[in-house]
Amino acid sequence: MRGVLGGTPPSFSRRILHKKEHNGMKLTYELRPGIDQVGYVDYNVRDFHSYDTRLGATYNAYLIRDEKVALVDTVKAPFAQQLQRNVASLVELEKVDYLICLHAEMDHSGALPAMVKACPNAVVVCNAKCKEALAGFYDVSNWKFQIVAQGESLSLGKRSLTFVNVPMVHWPESSVAYMPEEKILFANDAFGQHIATSNRFDDECDLPTLLREAKSYYANIVAPYGRQTLKVLETVKTLELDLIAPGHGVMWRSHIKEIIDAYERWASGKYAPKVLIIYDTMWQSTELMAEEIYAGAVERGQEIAKANPDAPRLDVQLMHARKTTLTRIAEEALDAAAVAFGSATLNATLMPQEAAVLAYFQGLKFREKTALAFGSYGWGIGAPEAIQKTLETLKYPAIELSPIKAKQRPDAAALDACRQAGAMLADAAWERYRNDQ
Ligand code: FEO
Repeated sequence: MRGVLGGTPPSFSRRILHKKEHNGMKLTYELRPGIDQVGYVDYNVRDFHSYDTRLGATYNAYLIRDEKVALVDTVKAPFAQQLQRNVASLVELEKVDYLICLHAEMDHSGALPAMVKACPNAVVVCNAKCKEALAGFYDVSNWKFQIVAQGESLSLGKRSLTFVNVPMVHWPESSVAYMPEEKILFANDAFGQHIATSNRFDDECDLPTLLREAKSYYANIVAPYGRQTLKVLETVKTLELDLIAPGHGVMWRSHIKEIIDAYERWASGKYAPKVLIIYDTMWQSTELMAEEIYAGAVERGQEIAKANPDAPRLDVQLMHARKTTLTRIAEEALDAAAVAFGSATLNATLMPQEAAVLAYFQGLKFREKTALAFGSYGWGIGAPEAIQKTLETLKYPAIELSPIKAKQRPDAAALDACRQAGAMLADAAWERYRNDQ
């Protein structure tokens, strides 16, 4: 497999190296003299607690060697040895003074117990809520803690770290740390992307790919907390920044404005002129309806484009719920202005993967979208009614044709309604987008 962002993934096998050398690979990346990335690039992860990590992931940890030595964050537990080796390649483990934990979730704290054991003189530095969360996961009875308050600074010698709590970006105890002397923000989950790449800085990678993966990450991980994210961005914008060092993916140094602007757009729920048709089908009846809705929306999009030649084109996407991952659906749904949900009726309700899509939408709390319920049935009521009900729970305003139902095969009248509904969704998406400008 080739690396998607340039470069080829390393051809080593961790298992073989362990057998041959018993000490495995060491690989660190210098950010500044005395500041190194010592985390782990995970090419093989494809399921990150249900997030489809199609491009792999990284767990970033940063070692700061000053008069004091601090490790900012750790990695997932299975990679604790690699982290330990990377740190030990730069400094004796006895000399580590601080193990800083910005977020207790196990992709960042999983290797902390091993590091506490390996670094006998280290104190765990975190906020009070984080200590509580760590105690819920690990036996911390022998750990030495130093609790830092909001805005408190920790001197490392020539450099220091100021801690800022960022509750719900991504968990209640989440925090970031700012190093004013180097203008570096250690951002943990914020500004992250799930990408495995041998290149560690934004300007070494393809920017559209990075922004797409950052968007996917935002949509799937951070989206429910848009209000809190906007608050954090207000603080971030007051900082002088030369480098954003997130807990996942590459570091931002040349495109800081682009990623902050993108976060503002995503967190404020700005609409794109986009219609999604997300459906599941048994014997292609619902699929015929979905295709007709798609055709109606595309046709209306062409008319809108003629009338507005300089505006962005309407984007219409047909998404089969069983052939598209929830991760990818969420990535597109984040800024979609209109969405049609369709399903065949199975066991008097909607099909399971369409139900999963709707459940995911409920959790992610995207800004409201103009919506349509549609689907087919054999006898009695079923999927279209169930979807229509969920639209009410989501508080998505449904167009007047919703729900569109077809008994067994859709007849000409049902297909005509679908075509009209597609045009109505296109109009609504265009209107929402234009009102946002
Ligand atoms: Fe990357 Fe919320 O953990």
